[in-house]
Amino acid sequence: MHNPIQVNNDTWWIGVNDFETDLFESLWPLPQGVAYNSYLITGTSATAAIDTVKGPYFDEYFRKLTQALNGRDLNYLVVNHMEPDHAGLIAQLKNLWPNLKFIANQKTIPLLKGYHGVTENILTVKDGDALDLGGHVLKFATVPMLHWPESMVTFDETTGVLFSNDSFGGFGAHEGGIFDDEKNQSRWEDEMLRYYAAIVAKYSNVVQAALKKLSGLKIKNIFPSHGTLFRKDVSTVINLYDKWSKQEGEKGAVVVYGTMYGNTRMMAEAVCSGLAKAKIKDVRLYDASRVDMSIILRDIWKFKGLAILSCTYNTLLFPQIESLCSKLLNRMPKNKILGIAGSYSWSKGALTALQDFATKIKLQKVEPEVEVYTTPTAEDLSKCVEMGVNIGEAL
Ligand code: FEO
Repeated sequence: MHNPIQVNNDTWWIGVNDFETDLFESLWPLPQGVAYNSYLITGTSATAAIDTVKGPYFDEYFRKLTQALNGRDLNYLVVNHMEPDHAGLIAQLKNLWPNLKFIANQKTIPLLKGYHGVTENILTVKDGDALDLGGHVLKFATVPMLHWPESMVTFDETTGVLFSNDSFGGFGAHEGGIFDDEKNQSRWEDEMLRYYAAIVAKYSNVVQAALKKLSGLKIKNIFPSHGTLFRKDVSTVINLYDKWSKQEGEKGAVVVYGTMYGNTRMMAEAVCSGLAKAKIKDVRLYDASRVDMSIILRDIWKFKGLAILSCTYNTLLFPQIESLCSKLLNRMPKNKILGIAGSYSWSKGALTALQDFATKIKLQKVEPEVEVYTTPTAEDLSKCVEMGVNIGEAL
């Protein structure tokens, strides 16, 4: 990965691995790093880069870009997306190649000016417009809100490569091979779903619209701007995106709790026992204080069942559960079976807040709702087991 990698005819991967950023968007941990994939297409009459990479990686990017250009100038930069993890080097490329032309859609224009002061040499494209590089004809399709309003994908009609930008992207740096047939699916799928849940999930209805819009293309490869490049079987990854965006959760459940002294954990464990009683094998029990929110969100997106339990903290939800509920309300998951429970000592509050959350999130809720004073009694725990059974039977 230290050199450009030829990924199709006249098409080069010129991306970089980032192991230095601890938190993507200063929010989401990157234990396996992240890759910023950029590409270069060398047509017979012109060259075009597809996006750039994050700003700090100029030296490595420039070295790969010039190596792949092999003495030629860079003629076009296709700006699929203006978020700085892909657009970080626009100003530098403009300085290096003053005649460089930027391919962008109308919504990109103000961002190009705002971030990089680019106001000239812009070819504004709309859906279906084409750019002939000589032996490679690029076509452009806007995919608004995947993941910003100006987001766009680029399709090379000649090779059948879809440069999909954030769509089909995943966390995780390249660890050897960069293609789907060079690594195990289990390694990339978890990090792709974690990326989906964190970054894309809110726009799942837009994903469905985009999949329909792109369904007419004869896509042979999908090369996203993060993570694995797909060339073996693009239907696998398209089907995953279809499933995640339709929110067809698998038979399994996430039980997530917030606790200070372990009483709510006991309740959560009882819910898990109920799920086991209902023969649910995929159960994920998470302490919201200790498991990163992106993992909890990932598995909420993966499975159909969800139980949320919170102790009362200063008359309200435990802060980590409050944060989770806020993130879920932002994403509005569908087709899930929800159970809720709260505990309290000197003041009630958690269950009422979870009831309010359940009303707003509009998921199918099972009974019983459980509210426990201080240490749960055997009867309290039986009710939690019953909730788990009811979630399991509804899956
Ligand atoms: Fe990878 Fe929305 O930027």
